[in-house]
Amino acid sequence: MNDTTKTPQDFNDEDSNTSNNGDFQQVLHTRLNRRHMLRGVAGAAGAATLGASALSGCATTTSGVSAPAGALGFKSVPKSLMDKVIVPEGYTAQVVYALGDPITAATPAFKNDGTDTDFANRAGDHGDGMEWFGLDAGGNPSRSFNSRGLLAMNHEATTDEKLTSFFLHADGGKASLPRQAAEVDKELMVHGLSVVEVQFNGKQWAYKPGSSFNRRVTTMSDAVIHGPARGSEHLVTKYSSDGVRARGTLNNCGTGKTPWGTYASGEENWFGYFYRDAKDDERRGKNDKQVQALKRYGRKAGDASRHGWESAGTEDRFARWNNGAQAANAKDDYRNEMNSFGYIVEMDPYDKTQAIRKRTALGRFGHENVTFARTTAGQPVVAYMGDDARGEYIYKFVSDAKWDPKDAQPANRLATGDKYLDKGTLFVARFKDDGSGEWLELSMSNPIIANSSYFEFTGAADVAIFTRLAADAVGATKMDRPEWAGVNPKNGEVYITLTNNSNRTVATADGANPRVYTDMKGSKEQKGNVNGHIVRLAETQPWAANFKWDIYLFAAEAGADKSTVNLSNLSDENDLSSPDGLVFSQATGICWIQTDDGAYTDQTNCMMLAAVPGQLGDGGAKSLAYGGKSVSTQMGKGQTSATLKRFLVGPKGAEITGWCETPDGRAIFVNIQHPGENTKMADVNNPAKYESQWPANAGYGAGNRPRSATIVITKNDGGLIGT
Ligand code: FEO
Ligand code: CA
Ligand code: CA
Repeated sequence: MNDTTKTPQDFNDEDSNTSNNGDFQQVLHTRLNRRHMLRGVAGAAGAATLGASALSGCATTTSGVSAPAGALGFKSVPKSLMDKVIVPEGYTAQVVYALGDPITAATPAFKNDGTDTDFANRAGDHGDGMEWFGLDAGGNPSRSFNSRGLLAMNHEATTDEKLTSFFLHADGGKASLPRQAAEVDKELMVHGLSVVEVQFNGKQWAYKPGSSFNRRVTTMSDAVIHGPARGSEHLVTKYSSDGVRARGTLNNCGTGKTPWGTYASGEENWFGYFYRDAKDDERRGKNDKQVQALKRYGRKAGDASRHGWESAGTEDRFARWNNGAQAANAKDDYRNEMNSFGYIVEMDPYDKTQAIRKRTALGRFGHENVTFARTTAGQPVVAYMGDDARGEYIYKFVSDAKWDPKDAQPANRLATGDKYLDKGTLFVARFKDDGSGEWLELSMSNPIIANSSYFEFTGAADVAIFTRLAADAVGATKMDRPEWAGVNPKNGEVYITLTNNSNRTVATADGANPRVYTDMKGSKEQKGNVNGHIVRLAETQPWAANFKWDIYLFAAEAGADKSTVNLSNLSDENDLSSPDGLVFSQATGICWIQTDDGAYTDQTNCMMLAAVPGQLGDGGAKSLAYGGKSVSTQMGKGQTSATLKRFLVGPKGAEITGWCETPDGRAIFVNIQHPGENTKMADVNNPAKYESQWPANAGYGAGNRPRSATIVITKNDGGLIGT
């Protein structure tokens, strides 16, 4: 049994193991009976507070399940610095899938000592965004079956020191140039995506190592370029002389589920993996506009790459990470390789024979996730996205094609993706302090872009590839690191986490990014918007050109000043820092908020909270003052323990990210990413010095090295999670 957690009650009485086998069987019996009973009456409880009146993303019909009145029916878990996952009393969390787990029957068990290989057939590292794709008993796609499905997830990155992903290598690896080929080969394959089948066997959840659905997509997998950038001269490489294919996906962060039932993944911090030498700007010359773009996207000539993969040999799989202009022609080198990353990537989770598709119409930037507006027959499909870097933007895509509800169950899922995601218009958000905002069009139809003196846009492909420059040109609002977006299924309002911004100053503070303050972490001064906030948008229709906004939540320490920092009235039950993951349950309407924090980690590990969202305008205009400057903002209503509660705290060094549920809302899956990330490489074989030994210390798997892992959380009485 892989119970990995203890409830707060367990901490008070370590001898009282509520998971002993006899109790467990009894709990399961109760749970199964309750599941059986509840399925027939789902929705009858009915109260409006969190009822799902319509769905975003995965479906076009109501879920039939509504949360009962008096939502958030659990006791808040305390902040924790312990090396374990904590969930509320009455809940059980269990590991189902972790770094290195074999996904074919022929792949050897994971030894977790740095000697494992064959990561093309194992779970990747740093599980991040994740979506559920149901299967019925016969293995066909199902939107209602609750005990068998596919988890599709991102494997964003690795735990590193200097150049090496040290927990993957027996001695930590060689942390200087040139890198060792065998080490780089592992690192290349541990990034990407995975699809893994999970089943509830009547007792507990487990992944199925031999499932024919299991799949890995890595940095080496073939990908097809779709949308306006397809065939662009800026995508011509030695791999694709006509600029229509690319290799792999990289640094995949947040996710989305399309209305037609596929998986969408955001490529986030891909630029750091490339290297071009100090002379590259000179070689490219003044006429190569990409020099400006390379700098704008964070790839300065001469800067070291994250892993030094380009140094591991002359073979193509290493050489491609050198994106300097080296040959006479672009088709003979990889000067454009970096332009093949930075997109929303679509995958059919049910068909591993289909290559992933890069949806360039949704722009190229540091994509966090993508979330879809509620669909309306005969109207465009709309998607919201954040670009996660300090001072970057919030985007919206509006399809040309109009939604046909029959496409919710299409015969060809990726062809349906072509229909809605390859043609449309991208917009970027500008916020005004009065609570209004506008979506600025990023296309050649906008004269500011067509006639720009800032950057030469020659067509739609340029806007798709050099999106950040287009957004600069139109004067979008620079935000405090836009992370996940989520759509409230009850009213269609859009929530976007702005995780923090150490660069925010009094001079640059504005209504939508108003806070500038100092917080202490021990003796360390932290400045800017230290703890982040969540902005909320309301539109008359998702395809509207304007919006209204307010700030749903200011994250803060409970003890911080209530007039400048803890503006949302947070208490010990719900204080948080650096909101990142944000997903609405379609079953209950609860807004799940996850943190990836470094600011409050002297007091608590990262966490997940459950929120009952209000609605735009439930607070009011507010004037704030920092450093002698007054800022006008719009605030949502303050929080109470009835509207926001801490549901989970993770192990040491981990961020909490990725959230999906079974359609009945009675099991949720969450990723625990990079436990022990502050471990020193010198201690790679000294478990006593690991920052974390999770999930091994919770009984999962071999060895002691910490592993990113997926957990499933169920309520012991079989009820809806969080209610
Ligand atoms: Fe991968 Fe912005 O978090
Ligand atoms: Ca502090
Ligand atoms: Ca994230």
